[in-house]
Amino acid sequence: MNLTVKSGKLSAITADVLVLRVGEKGVFSQSLKEIDTLTKGYFRAQKRNRNLPQKSGETVIFYDVAGLKAKRVMVVCTDLSTKSLQRAIKRVTQAVKKHGWSSAVLALVDNDEAGIDLESAYQMAFQQIYDDSYVFADFKTKASEGGSLEDVSWVMFAENKSLDFGKNALKRAQAWAKGTYLTRRLGDLPPNVCQPAYLGKTAKSLAKQYPELIINVLKRKDIKALGMGALLGVAQGSAQHPRFITMEYKPANARNKKPVVLVGKGVTFDSGGISIKPGAAMDEMKFDMCGAATVFGVINAICYEKLDVYVVGIVAAVENMPGGNATRPGDILTSMSGKTIEVLNTDAEGRLILCDALTYAERYEPQAVIDMATLTGACVVALGSHRAGLLGNDKRLIDALFVAGEAANDPVWPLPLDQEYKDLLKSPFADLPNISSKREAGTIVAAAFLAEFAEKYSWAHLDIAGVAWRNGQDKGGSGRPVGLLLTYLRHLANA
Ligand code: BES
Ligand code: MN
Ligand code: ZN
Repeated sequence: MNLTVKSGKLSAITADVLVLRVGEKGVFSQSLKEIDTLTKGYFRAQKRNRNLPQKSGETVIFYDVAGLKAKRVMVVCTDLSTKSLQRAIKRVTQAVKKHGWSSAVLALVDNDEAGIDLESAYQMAFQQIYDDSYVFADFKTKASEGGSLEDVSWVMFAENKSLDFGKNALKRAQAWAKGTYLTRRLGDLPPNVCQPAYLGKTAKSLAKQYPELIINVLKRKDIKALGMGALLGVAQGSAQHPRFITMEYKPANARNKKPVVLVGKGVTFDSGGISIKPGAAMDEMKFDMCGAATVFGVINAICYEKLDVYVVGIVAAVENMPGGNATRPGDILTSMSGKTIEVLNTDAEGRLILCDALTYAERYEPQAVIDMATLTGACVVALGSHRAGLLGNDKRLIDALFVAGEAANDPVWPLPLDQEYKDLLKSPFADLPNISSKREAGTIVAAAFLAEFAEKYSWAHLDIAGVAWRNGQDKGGSGRPVGLLLTYLRHLANA
């Protein structure tokens, strides 16, 4: 895909479509005013005739506008808030795709609007174009009907003053796209392809692309030697061997001496194990490695961007299957920390692999550890697919992640983690059970379990069960929360 920032004369634009913006209540943007002058008041006349879009997100297309070289003009109604701008761009990419146009010039972000962070407006606009251009067609033997956005040439038209803003924003959006494309792709790959060994290979291919990235892919024997009995207990019901993957990115000019460690749940398929899941929508459990996919995506983005932060990525990759050697309800596992765990439900497997990864993270003496996991169905019930759940043991880290989520339009919402919730984890036979005997507060109880293994450092947990993939027409990985984490790390790099 070709996406560039250019300035120049609006009258000289020769695209298949020129996209202009009108604010709500019919307020003309700067570019629309200029185009209106060039076309001798064409758009003011359209406004008088009530032909312009009036509500945020609406669009109208005008053909053969005299005085312009562009073949058509699409007017979208939006303000410059990132949310509304992204929705407007989505309308544009949908129209471009539907009509099969091959070039588009967007003159949307003006530099004279008060109170607008130009750079983030540009960045969010670019990100939306990249997001809508992603395709996953590896397993389609026929080309899809309708145009592909991959061949479209996009130009973001910038007023002279804002060219620098536009170019910086484009670079950021490109790093974001690098990250989210990988994250989405790993999510979308079928579970007979994207298995633990495949995630190991993904780490190797990243290390090939970025020689500064130091990786280590541990196999079953090494994992056993480390004493990760909880992780292995999940893996043992599957014919696929687990992998434990670390990726260390330590640039010379890193702003932090101690690393930020990102930990991802990489259950490449979650059947539930012996506590097997019901059949409906079980295919979606191929997305149960989206925490891991997020770690890969963020590492890809920061290496590409050469961000000055010291980051370690950890991926615990297993398949949760009900094989003859599978862990049974009632089995007791010994975690790497030494704590014993009574497995009361083999479908609460995410916390079992994460607890060993969290113990392993101690060796980095981290500044902060952030884990990402499609951990609980309860989180989807509580927060739906808009905001991920955020829990942890350090208010400052939680606040920083919250702020990053808002800035990235990749939002989260905090949940409590009082001792009273931790008290729900009592086992008569082991140090702790992997589930509570009560059904309530499922997301919090899962985090309370993890907290037991994250006592030695500042820690936050993102339950991304609701946000990591989309359902319905555009079913597939969402690439979230790469944007949140990338923004958080950029904040650290620029602090
Ligand atoms: N991967 C699931 C969580 C999940 C379920 C994510 C549905 C997205 C949609 C996780 O491993 C799981 O099965 N959790 C159980 C925990 C329960 C047994 C305490 C759940 O949420 O039902
Ligand atoms: Mn499960
Ligand atoms: Zn799971």
